[in-house]
Amino acid sequence: SERTLVLVKPDGVSRGLVGEVISRIERKGLKLAALELRTVERGVAEQHYAEHDGKPFFNDLLDFITSGPLVALVVEGTRAISAFRQLAGGTDPVEKATPGTLRGDFGLEVQYNLVHGSDSPESAEREIKIWFPNL
Ligand code: GTP
Ligand code: MG
Repeated sequence: SERTLVLVKPDGVSRGLVGEVISRIERKGLKLAALELRTVERGVAEQHYAEHDGKPFFNDLLDFITSGPLVALVVEGTRAISAFRQLAGGTDPVEKATPGTLRGDFGLEVQYNLVHGSDSPESAEREIKIWFPNL
């Protein structure tokens, strides 16, 4: 079994899609190991997205992620990391995510792409420590 860090980003929360995201996670057969609604400070967002520091969209991304409440989850199960990435769909909701995925079904813009999921076991471990240090 494997764990992954999932975020329902502020656009997903404000659009009322938290239930939809959790429902798809559960129907896939993955389990929730932690769940919290919170608004994050810039420092937490900077740590979370450190790999994108210096990219042209970095500041907009931090503004967006800190703009309102998000839901952070730890999701657990067999191949949880790739299983959730598959549920999420590609980063660009129109060009990459296909219908049937969360981003493909509900997203239009790259920045407002509803969810985050860790992209490797190393990222998952690093991100779970940031969001749920006591887990
Ligand atoms: P995350 O799960 O959020 O990490 O998405 P990802 O792994 O599919 O994409 P990536 O890590 O490459 O980018 C992180 C986030 O930055 C994306 O989910 C987008 O919200 C945002 N992002 C990526 N590329 C762009 C871009 O070209 N423009 C803008 N505005 N945002 C971008
Ligand atoms: Mg990423």
